[in-house]
Amino acid sequence: MSMDRKTKKNNNFGKRFYLHTFGCQMNVHDSEKMAGILSEAGMSHSNHFNNADVIVLNTCSIREKAEQKFYSELGRLETVKKNNPKLKIAVAGCIAQQKGDALLKRFPYVDFIFGPDNINNLETWINFSAQDTGERLKKTALAYNPEYHFMELPVKREEGVRAWVSIMYGCDNFCAYCIVPYTRGRERSRPARDIYREVSALASQGYREVTLLGQNVNSYGKNMPENIDFSDLLCMIHEIEDMKRIRFVTSHPRDLSEKLVNTMNKLPKMCNHLHLPLQSGSDKILFQMNRGYSYREYKDKIMMLRNALPESAITTDIIVGFPGEKEEDFQATMDALKEMEFDGIFAFKYSPRPNTSAVDLPGHIDEKAKSRRLSEVLDLQSDITYRKNKKFEGSTVEVLVEGYSDTDKDKLTGRTGSNKIVNFHGSDNNIGKFVAINITEAKQHSLYGILIHSFSVS
Ligand code: SAH
Ligand code: SF4
Ligand code: F3S
Repeated sequence: MSMDRKTKKNNNFGKRFYLHTFGCQMNVHDSEKMAGILSEAGMSHSNHFNNADVIVLNTCSIREKAEQKFYSELGRLETVKKNNPKLKIAVAGCIAQQKGDALLKRFPYVDFIFGPDNINNLETWINFSAQDTGERLKKTALAYNPEYHFMELPVKREEGVRAWVSIMYGCDNFCAYCIVPYTRGRERSRPARDIYREVSALASQGYREVTLLGQNVNSYGKNMPENIDFSDLLCMIHEIEDMKRIRFVTSHPRDLSEKLVNTMNKLPKMCNHLHLPLQSGSDKILFQMNRGYSYREYKDKIMMLRNALPESAITTDIIVGFPGEKEEDFQATMDALKEMEFDGIFAFKYSPRPNTSAVDLPGHIDEKAKSRRLSEVLDLQSDITYRKNKKFEGSTVEVLVEGYSDTDKDKLTGRTGSNKIVNFHGSDNNIGKFVAINITEAKQHSLYGILIHSFSVS
């Protein structure tokens, strides 16, 4: 932010930080806040840990595999630290929150541990660590004091067209398999005026699409002094003229209301995409998961949405191999996928997580059966996704251009409102603008097309 804030921290000026993010979009956004704090302290970003003075690993504990990736990276850092004893290593995010002292004990070369509610402490720590006292720190108190979330942290965003903005923190749902309520604490909504202010500032910086972030955005506003719900918040954001597209993740099926569907229908800037995690097609398993809806109820919500917004894309999350999942329960999930015809899914093998109630359920499924079920789900969905993408061939879609494609460097890439990735040849001045693309080829994960024209709205 201001120069005088920077000049005060000149003991960190010119130092380099390496920041590696594991996990969900919320973690990615938290890392943008960490990068903001480190950059404001006068530090610059390094692409490799070998060249860094400070390393921050922002971790995820949603599944064992996510944890393993972090532990193997942390393992590699032991020799890096031996070769460079001045190097400072911090572990942030959900594993830091969950493991706390145990992590400090197991990894003597880690200097600082902080949880998702303690990102502001990064600033104090880098100043403190510059004094090189050798003292190690832990900050993992969950911030139930709402003032923490009124705090404005600097954010250094990765992209210039799309931005992510937190609207709530934590989760109260306690799905039987899920560690998030233990790592992110109780649900808290961020004041609407702060969200409005941040989105307005983003619009004036040139961002054209905003994604509102929370574990369960449909229950935004619960327990807040202001009488405001998620639909009201969307109406407020919609007023910001230069913000042209609004998205949100994630919705909980139980809390998806008719009011929200009507709001999505009424507000032209709302993207016609909804990510609505189903998890399982079996009522028995949904009940055991503590999801709070039956498959029938889920289906009714989808029908309500598809009736109101026939063009909308719907994506979902699926867990296979939850304890007690019999072959018939798994078939119910396969049937649900066939019936719902989602535009895309994320599918996972159930992974037992510490503290969660599902760990104690009978009927844990062996790895082999889980793997088989996962591939069956992915094979089925891959046909459905491809078939749905194919329908775009020959049509013209509106795309917000994000920049050059990572995989195909001479092409530009962007998304439709329904969140389909579209690649095409264009020029620098298309970036940040809306363009019309005629789709010539549909692939499994993206669409390819030809630029027809650029819209005058920018
Ligand atoms: N708050 C969001 C997303 C949470 S995590 C929601 O409720 O939808 C993203 C996804 O990870 C979940 O939807 C679920 O499908 C999956 N997941 C969470 N815990 C898991 C576990 N223990 N094993 C396997 N998948 C899990
Ligand atoms: Fe986890 Fe359920 Fe909360 Fe999503 S709603 S974060 S799956 S507990
Ligand atoms: Fe992972 Fe924590 Fe997100 S466990 S999925 S980083 S909320």
